[in-house]
Formats: sequence, structure tokens, C-alpha cells
Amino acid sequence: MAESIYRAGVKDLSVAACSACHSPTGDGNAPAGFPSLSGQHAEYTLQQLKDFRAGVRQNDTSAMMRSVVERLTDKELEALSSYVSGLN
Ligand code: HEC
Repeated sequence: MAESIYRAGVKDLSVAACSACHSPTGDGNAPAGFPSLSGQHAEYTLQQLKDFRAGVRQNDTSAMMRSVVERLTDKELEALSSYVSGLN
């Protein structure tokens, strides 16, 4: 589930693929302002995703992250966090 969301998004929910911004390897794209995700602790990543979804973290330009995670469930966020912590 996490790998397919990361690589392809969720079409039915208009959830963009994480890899489009954060790159397939999770290295991000620093010049474009997309941070690297690989090697972060899963707990840290999960907290960021929940904070974006709750609107507590709002420093993403044009609400890029908030619009991606707003329709994802806790289970999906947990699976994604553990998936990206293993990317390299
Ligand atoms: C349209 C581009 C875009 C997409 C798609 C996207 N992100 Fe992001 N993401 C960003 C931007 C921009 C930021 C950084 C905001 C800031 O701190 O300046 C970010 C930040 C993050 C962070 C916080 C990183 C940190 O070190 O604090 C995590 C975690 C994250 N994204 C995970 C994901 C996941 C998982 C997906 C797929 C479900 C995803 N992103 C899809 C653009 C995107």
C-alpha cells in the first residue's frame, strides 16, 4: 500500500504521488524546496504528516503537503512513514 501511494498516488482521491516531489529514492529536490525524506526516523516522519493533515504545520508553500495528506488515513500515514524511512 505505502509503496504504491509513494510511487503512484491515489488516483480516486486525487492524492499526488510523493515521488513526484520527493523523488523515487526519497532524496527530494533541494533547489525546488522538496526535502529529502530518506533516512528520517519513521516516528518523525509520521508526526510531520499528521501535523500537515491537522494544519498544525503550515510552512509548505501553496499547501502542497496539506493537500496531499488531507485524504489519507492514519494507517496510510503510518505505512508511508515506515516505507520512506527505508528508502535510499
Ligand atoms: C507537490 C509536491 C509534494 C508532494 C506530491 C508531496 N510532498 Fe511532501 N513536501 C513537499 C514540500 C514543499 C515540503 C516542505 C515544506 C517545507 O518544510 O518547506 C514537504 C515536506 C514533507 C515532509 C516533512 C519533511 C521534514 O523533514 O520535515 C514529509 C514527511 C513529506 N513531505 C512526506 C510526503 C509524502 C509521504 C508524500 C506522499 C503522500 C508527499 N510528501 C508528497 C512537497 C510535496
